[in-house]
Amino acid sequence: MYIPDSIKSYISNKPYTLDSKGKSGAVIMMFHDAVLKIEEVSEEVRREERVVSWLNGRLYVPSTIISVEEEGKIYRLMERIRGKDLSSPSFLENPERLLDLCAEAYEKLSNVDISDCPSCRSLDICLKEAEERVEKNLVDVEDTDPSTFGKGGFSSPEKLLEWLMDNKPKEEKSFIHGDFCLPNIILGENGDIGFIDLGRSGVGDKYNDIALLSRSLKSNFSGHYNGGKQYPGYREEMLYERLGIRKDEEKVRYYLLLDELF
Ligand SMILES: Nc1ncnc2c1ncn2[C@@H]1O[C@H](COP(=O)(O)OP(=O)(O)O)[C@@H](O)[C@H]1O
Ligand SMILES: [Mg+2]
Repeated sequence: MYIPDSIKSYISNKPYTLDSKGKSGAVIMMFHDAVLKIEEVSEEVRREERVVSWLNGRLYVPSTIISVEEEGKIYRLMERIRGKDLSSPSFLENPERLLDLCAEAYEKLSNVDISDCPSCRSLDICLKEAEERVEKNLVDVEDTDPSTFGKGGFSSPEKLLEWLMDNKPKEEKSFIHGDFCLPNIILGENGDIGFIDLGRSGVGDKYNDIALLSRSLKSNFSGHYNGGKQYPGYREEMLYERLGIRKDEEKVRYYLLLDELF
């Protein structure tokens, strides 16, 4: 695999494994203390670099060691958050503890002071991006929930976008992760909760995070991942109890539908 010389000097011949957890198509090389993420240049990648450097000192996020842009690709060598991500079996086997960790992660995000945050993830901005994706035919309909575009669902991404534009909920602004699913939250070996994959983070509606987290919990417990292995003891109400938030079905549905266009 091609790696720019300036990055090679950091990793020399150190051993690594390739990680296949993410869905974005990025190449991830995991070294003992560092991670090299290689992906196509995009606004999302640039945003991730910007927000991560701003978040440093505010949240436990991987600091960038060196970042190089070459021929349309970004090679970002960053600190590895050593620990276990929240989709690990040992957490799924203990729903009470997992939900405590989720609530702690959510609280940490909510407590970030957003006054000088360099990334705005307002609904209008997200819908604009969704519109661009729809126009460029980038929505992968195969990679959506069967009910979204199936029988009784939307006939096309265009129709879904139209519905989203006509049914905007009232936003409750907070710092959000933007892709708040279990594999993107890591309980570090130091006991602190770390966050990765922050390309869609910024100031947005907290319900965006709640919706994606509730879907992630459901899929992980129900055996959608983990080769079909199911884990007992989780009910969705437990999440809302832990977060101390009343479930807003409409908003959860809205943000899950919005996510189908990304
Ligand atoms: N800084 C990091 N520390 C620890 N693990 C990481 C780090 N960056 C990436 N990973 C691992 O690589 C996987 C994919 O990286 P991620 O940034 O989440 O990309 P994707 O957008 O493909 O989900 C993660 O789920 C995690 O297992
Ligand atoms: Mg990820």
